[in-house]
Amino acid sequence: MVNLPTARQTTRETMEDTQTQAATARPAAPTDSTPADAVMRVEGLNVYYGDFLAVKDVTLRFARHEITALIGPSGCGKSTVLRSLNRMNDLIPNARVEGAVFFNDQDIYDPDVDPVEVRRRVGMVFQKPNPFPKSIYENVAWGARINGFKGKRGELDDLVERALRQAALWDEVKDKLHESGYSLSGGQQQRLCIARALAPNPEVLLMDEPASALDPIATLRIEELMLSLKEQYTIIIVTHNMQQAGRVSDRTAFFSVEVDERGQRTGKLVEFDLTDKLFTQPAMKETEDYITGRFG
Ligand SMILES: Nc1ncnc2c1ncn2[C@@H]1O[C@H](COP(=O)(O)OP(=O)(O)OP(=O)(O)O)[C@@H](O)[C@H]1O
Ligand SMILES: [Mg+2]
Repeated sequence: MVNLPTARQTTRETMEDTQTQAATARPAAPTDSTPADAVMRVEGLNVYYGDFLAVKDVTLRFARHEITALIGPSGCGKSTVLRSLNRMNDLIPNARVEGAVFFNDQDIYDPDVDPVEVRRRVGMVFQKPNPFPKSIYENVAWGARINGFKGKRGELDDLVERALRQAALWDEVKDKLHESGYSLSGGQQQRLCIARALAPNPEVLLMDEPASALDPIATLRIEELMLSLKEQYTIIIVTHNMQQAGRVSDRTAFFSVEVDERGQRTGKLVEFDLTDKLFTQPAMKETEDYITGRFG
């Protein structure tokens, strides 16, 4: 079993309170069209479900401490690509991945790599908030325990508090940590799931339409939270909401569906660029049609 390499300190000091940072100004947008420092790289990725090629030949780089959005019409393979970044597709019967996905230059599909370790280092938040039927505290503590946390109770308390602060939820739940996660609102539940994903101290956070089940206020909170989290994490988000991609992401990858003569529909990457550039001067007509609402 190989250890996945790390490129940042994983000391506890890095887990500082980001709650106050949520209100700070957005950092300057990047200007390099190809990110030099990529925490993850996807090369020649094909994903099949049985014989069905769902998405083909995806090559992409995800820049460290940036937010990358994956956009495109339903069925173009956004969730499929996202799941391939932490070997979540392994859990789907019939799913098969070709090509390579590098995390800090280690191919996560190398047979020596432990997929559980990959999922600790590359965390995931889903579309529908999915807290466990446990207390708020236990939801987050679980995230720490799967990271092999064996500290004393007081240390676990500190870790739970830090993760809840990072997820901008602490102030709302600090007096009811032992109530059920289900007692929270939808937006709070989603932030609880983000806290749970942060507790194992990942480097990358994958988010599949994390705000699509939420109202506009809760959505805005998640967006602010993402902007504050990118100081410490790299975020890759799938979204159907182009305004959201424009508001939060530094880079955007646009996917679409190619239909062959037999009617087979296969997702493909059309264009990947800085978000500002992709939304104002797309290189491909297909991208332009999509972002101007003529398609999808
Ligand atoms: N578990 C699965 N088994 C078989 N086919 C699947 C499975 N999951 C996805 N697919 C197929 O793979 C293709 C890509 O699906 P995927 O869910 O990745 O698209 P998406 O871009 O995330 O769509 P949406 O925007 O609707 O969430 C689709 O044709 C879909 O039907
Ligand atoms: Mg999807």
